[in-house]
Amino acid sequence: MIKSEIFEELNPPPRLMMGPGPVNVDPRVLNAMSMPLLGQFDPAFTEYMNEVMVLYRQIFQTKNRWTLMIDGTARAAIETFMVSVIQPGDKVLVPVFGRFGHLITEIAERCGAAVEIIEVKWGEVFDPQQIEDTIKRIRPKLVAICQGDTSTTQAQPLEEIGEICARYEALSFVDATASLVGMDLPVDKWKIDCVSIGLQKCLAGPPGIAPITFNDHVAEIINSRKHIEKGIRPKGFQAAKGPMVASNYFDLGMLMDYWSEARLNHHTEATSMLYAARECARVALKEGLQAGFDRHALASRAMVAGLEGLGLKIFGDKQHKMPNVTGVYIPEGIDGEAARADMLHDFGIEIGTSFGPLHGMIWRIGAMGYNCQKQNILTCLAALEATLRQHNVSMPAGNGVTAALAEYRAVGQ
Ligand SMILES: Cc1ncc(COP(=O)(O)O)c(C=O)c1O
Repeated sequence: MIKSEIFEELNPPPRLMMGPGPVNVDPRVLNAMSMPLLGQFDPAFTEYMNEVMVLYRQIFQTKNRWTLMIDGTARAAIETFMVSVIQPGDKVLVPVFGRFGHLITEIAERCGAAVEIIEVKWGEVFDPQQIEDTIKRIRPKLVAICQGDTSTTQAQPLEEIGEICARYEALSFVDATASLVGMDLPVDKWKIDCVSIGLQKCLAGPPGIAPITFNDHVAEIINSRKHIEKGIRPKGFQAAKGPMVASNYFDLGMLMDYWSEARLNHHTEATSMLYAARECARVALKEGLQAGFDRHALASRAMVAGLEGLGLKIFGDKQHKMPNVTGVYIPEGIDGEAARADMLHDFGIEIGTSFGPLHGMIWRIGAMGYNCQKQNILTCLAALEATLRQHNVSMPAGNGVTAALAEYRAVGQ
């Protein structure tokens, strides 16, 4: 072997990841991922799978039996749901308020759906009445929407979405990848048919496994097209009448068999990712969901106060801002990407760039999961102030940190 192709041992540089996610993984989760692997049908492992289902029912605030993991990043769960539920020609409505609405749209289109979108300007959210009026007009089979779209930092109010969809016999799907655990989404109370997430945002885990929950109504639709791979088909199994799901990997019918008592072999479960998912949920529930929402809300107030203290302007509708990501206008005359690079080079701090119409206009600064702590917010603001000075932006010294600290002091922290 050529020596130069052996490389050094893996030794990533220390980083404080204050972008829109992924963020630093909680050390307890990293620890869980280093636990010994087990066979996928070892009773100890299948018990962990069951525990993960129990934990995520609490995270999603649901009694849904079907609460399981999809191996892949957050979009894998979106795709699993869509490819298993949508049949070519089905009408799907996607209210788009940022990049991830477009992602949902694209996935639905790839599944053959006839997608209709409604859009608001990036930085705004929908009036639920506008969504209802559109559903009434087009009568879709499915309405799919993000809760928090990290590309715009906005969170769509969704209290009524489940009710509205049910009124017109449409299924409701919510992509809560970037918001769950940072803000409330009681799946059963809000009557949402299916919700999916990832670990790499407020759950402080690595990307690579995607929790999903869906109710019995969705399960019925999936089972109406249930097929099982020939090599593992139980004796006497009769395939359902509906068309076979176009993906094997993302076939929810087969995944349900894998995650239920049937334990029918499907893929090989990603052992270390399952450990990670288990620890992420355990840590979040140990803190308490409400305590987690409060921690993210306080951090959001501190970040906004701090950035305004630096003389910067917050992007978007503040009333609907996600608590875990803050968009801020890049001061005029400075190169936003160069300043971001300096933050990384000089301080080891990553802040987020932006996409589409916002590219070059705003930075996105995250404080979520394990990173959502007072000292990280203060450190990030202090580093940003120093960086802005390097880029010839002048401001009174220390105003950002002082304003953020005042938010924490106000609640005795
Ligand atoms: C709201 C939302 N949905 C979906 C995704 C896609 O997640 P992934 O990159 O894990 O597939 C992201 C990632 O940032 C997101 O913020």
